[in-house]
Amino acid sequence: MHPLAKRNWWKEVVVYQVYPRSFKDTNGDGIGDLKGIIEKVDYIKSLGIDVVWLNPIYESPNDDMGYDISDYRAIMQQFGTMEDFDLLLTRLHQNGIKLIMDLVVNHTSDEHFWFKESRKSRTNPYRNFYHWWDAEKGTPPYRWSIFDKESNAWKYDKTTDSYYFHIFSEKQPDLNWENKEVRKAVYEMMKFWLDKGIDGFRLDVITCISKDTRFPVLEENMPVGAWFPYYSKGPHLHEYLEEMNREVFAKYDCMNVGEASGISIEDALLFVDEERNELQTFYHFDHTGFGISKENFMYADDNNRDLVEWKKIFDKWDKVFVDKGWGTIYLGNHDMSRMVSRFGNESDAYRERSAKMLQTFLLSMRATPYIYNGDEIGMVNTNHTQIENYRDVYTINYYNQLKQKGGDYQGFLNSHAKISRDNGRTPMQWDNTAHAGFTTGKPWLAVHENHNILNIQEQESRPDSVLNYFRKMIQLRKQCDTLIYGAFELIDVNNSQIIAYTRQLNKEKLLVVLNFSDSQAVLNTTIDLKNSTTLISNYEQTANNCICRPYEAVIYQLETSNN
Ligand code: GLC
Ligand code: CA
Repeated sequence: MHPLAKRNWWKEVVVYQVYPRSFKDTNGDGIGDLKGIIEKVDYIKSLGIDVVWLNPIYESPNDDMGYDISDYRAIMQQFGTMEDFDLLLTRLHQNGIKLIMDLVVNHTSDEHFWFKESRKSRTNPYRNFYHWWDAEKGTPPYRWSIFDKESNAWKYDKTTDSYYFHIFSEKQPDLNWENKEVRKAVYEMMKFWLDKGIDGFRLDVITCISKDTRFPVLEENMPVGAWFPYYSKGPHLHEYLEEMNREVFAKYDCMNVGEASGISIEDALLFVDEERNELQTFYHFDHTGFGISKENFMYADDNNRDLVEWKKIFDKWDKVFVDKGWGTIYLGNHDMSRMVSRFGNESDAYRERSAKMLQTFLLSMRATPYIYNGDEIGMVNTNHTQIENYRDVYTINYYNQLKQKGGDYQGFLNSHAKISRDNGRTPMQWDNTAHAGFTTGKPWLAVHENHNILNIQEQESRPDSVLNYFRKMIQLRKQCDTLIYGAFELIDVNNSQIIAYTRQLNKEKLLVVLNFSDSQAVLNTTIDLKNSTTLISNYEQTANNCICRPYEAVIYQLETSNN
């Protein structure tokens, strides 16, 4: 099939993720709000992006920063009102920007009306909206919970002498998707937002909605992660996604992207093969383990990063979608630490260079790119090693647990300095004034102290800033079908410093060369660069040869002699 036969608007867009809590505060309470995003629409527009993905803005007690929703049809009071939302949507649309919302339907808040009813009695009409285990059956078979204070996914509830199930915190009970009424209510809610005019959804932990609800006893001492099949990709997952598509997505011209932990290349197409009518795209996690130990999920050290292995992950995933489906690419989001600190180099010497290099990577792959707010200017980790600096329920509960049990809590903090989610959640750095122009009050999470030198205002005024490079790179992608649809081929695969690949569409062939290291590197290739044209580069001049300077990024348009 010719690649352009697969054309679709949602494959061609660049998505910009806005974390509302940390974007811009307008009333001095230290919490970003919708009015703040409205204030910054011109800035967002100036980036050249096409779609904004908003993290949850629904009513929520914020146990997990909005991922615990207590009312799907109301705006979180801290963020503003439905009028603010309508205005934001209008302003984005007026500027040609689409809006996708977070859809969190694996679980609700325990303060959601459905759960409040459900826990009242065993015969309540909402009882089966959640997973309950009656105490007379004995203690339920152990299930691990990622955010729970004791890592236990079952929580005893006295009123009805039963336990309820929660993969995440105890304030995030899992919805029972086996119940038709639950599914119906979710689809109605999705239509409520789509009818308002939003352009699609990012589907939170969507692979978890169907699970093994017999809750069999699991082998003792199962290694971390081996539990996974009992939580996700359950027997009815594809049935539910197909139903959601039929009931909702098929009725709108909208986009969707599933958060798909646990998905593998073997079953990827079951989700996104167009003919199966389930999802359009999803994102996997395979590349996010860079430097992280598979045994205990802690960050080992920078030397534990194997670039060859890492690039093969992207290659493998690219191949999955050659004929069917479509991929996504991201290097940062609200669940990760900062892209520059994780995959580039946060030192003063290389921060800007490596940020531009990573942007070049994100925007030159065959997949829809997702850019997390702050990464357009190369914001970096705060690297905190004191628990007082953290706000994330995951960090706090896990740390306390280790401390109580006498575990390696210091090791955990050291690892978290590198990979915690709060690293990526610090407020946007707009300028060099107090609190980086994010708020006039006390920010809910401290602003990075480097905002004096690293901020948007400073970068606006400097033509060679990371921000202006980002804009240039987006324009390049948008004007170049080859960068979007062109065939992808890794070259010099075993080079442990460089990731390089060609992109080809019809007669146009591009070569992308990215030095991921802080030293000079040599690309081993027979491709002749002498007569090629440099489309973009993060150094002032390119030498058109195979020697790459630290963190150098170049896209060459190759001379096509065989036409
Ligand atoms: C997803 C979200 C994350 C949240 C979790 C539970 O992974 O991205 O932020 O904590 O789901 O909803
Ligand atoms: Ca506010």
